[in-house]
Amino acid sequence: MSNPKDFARLPGFRDFPPEELALRTHLFEAWRRVATRYGFREYDAPPLEALDLYVEKSGEEIVGQLYSFTDKGGREVSLRPEMTPSLARVLGERSRAMPKPIRWFAIPQLFRYERQQRGRLREHFQWNVDLVGAAGPEAEAEVLAVALDGLREVGLGAEHIRARVSDRRLLAGILGALGVPESHLLPCYGVVDKVEREPRERILERLVDEVGLPEEVAEGVVSLFDAPELDAVEARFGDDPAVAPHLASLRSFLSILDDLGFGEYVDFDLTIVRGLAYYTGVVFEIFDRAGEFRAVAGGGRYDRLLELVGGEPLPAVGFGMGDVVLSDLLNERGLAPDTGHSVDHFIVAIGANQAPLARRIAASLRGRGRSVVYDVRGQSVRKQFSAAANEGAREVVVLGPDEVARGVAVIRSMELGTEREVELSDLLSDAAVGA
Ligand code: HAM
Repeated sequence: MSNPKDFARLPGFRDFPPEELALRTHLFEAWRRVATRYGFREYDAPPLEALDLYVEKSGEEIVGQLYSFTDKGGREVSLRPEMTPSLARVLGERSRAMPKPIRWFAIPQLFRYERQQRGRLREHFQWNVDLVGAAGPEAEAEVLAVALDGLREVGLGAEHIRARVSDRRLLAGILGALGVPESHLLPCYGVVDKVEREPRERILERLVDEVGLPEEVAEGVVSLFDAPELDAVEARFGDDPAVAPHLASLRSFLSILDDLGFGEYVDFDLTIVRGLAYYTGVVFEIFDRAGEFRAVAGGGRYDRLLELVGGEPLPAVGFGMGDVVLSDLLNERGLAPDTGHSVDHFIVAIGANQAPLARRIAASLRGRGRSVVYDVRGQSVRKQFSAAANEGAREVVVLGPDEVARGVAVIRSMELGTEREVELSDLLSDAAVGA
């Protein structure tokens, strides 16, 4: 016999008993409302894909975390660690026939074999919102606005969260001006991504040893983060033709976000480059303002991915927002909704004779959209009342033999403690039950 311990939940995976699921459902509903408000339509794709879809497209970090295996047909497959490659694949097959731009969203469950830590599990749900077929800052701002609105919808305002934004084209231009060759850009991004988390000396060392930059170039790169504000960057590199257009585009992105009412949520931050390989332009991450948690969301422009998976070359921009960090944040800030359970009515039958009538009334009320529970264990009247309280019943319908003989039931409001009599014919009218 197996030891019961063998059936423990796998590390990094979650159960969702109803009180936990309630918060997840609350997020999904808010995400769906907001995406729909911006004209996005929901899609889905399989949770298992060909392994190749992720190798190279997603980047080393994610590929090292794949739940991949060989299936019984000898195919190399993987559980999806992110949605963007699937989106690119799906659109690759059908975008040619679709009007542009394409506004799609999804809420997939994703799997990454991560080292477990706060805010990082081995499965999570991620709201993905992507706008495909539009190249400019308007599309980028629209997508970031959806993300911020999704957070505002669950109670997180500018006082709680901020988006840190940058642009890989801008950073590439600046790094080029500092003497970083194009071939060294990707590894250089990987180091810049860690500027906040590692000491200056370590960053310098990595730029020289891992990226292979000459010491004076590496010094220049590190000094960039001494004055990373937009104005300082503009004063220093604004005249460089490889930088100027991207600065202008970023300014326009910020000003559109301002028009949309999200100006105070957004800060320029040159250290944001993102870990995924496919980003080609604007990149952003959303954090809690206190800086206690990992990123709630991340995204950016990826103009070559669709073509890379064999589709039409289309510019695209999108983000992913995870449920794990967001749930922690809402719990911590007291913004998680009340997960209490309740029903409209509990029917108490006094004596087994009333049971068929209780069922007919339940069917009738349910037919009118009410939630109704009655005893299914043949319990005493006292226990039925305590069951009514456990179910959070708003009202208890009491079927006593004397009242029923008079053609009425007593309805007790659990909230007010008041009682009133109601005609049985009213409880049974509009009935979705046979006569
Ligand atoms: P990502 O930055 O890898 O981007 O993930 C986006 C968000 O998903 C993160 O900010 C975090 O909240 C959540 N997340 C990621 N991994 C985990 C994990 N192991 N446990 C809990 N939460 C996690 C992407 O995946 C891109 N594909 C997003 C995107 C869509 N870019 C363009 N379109």
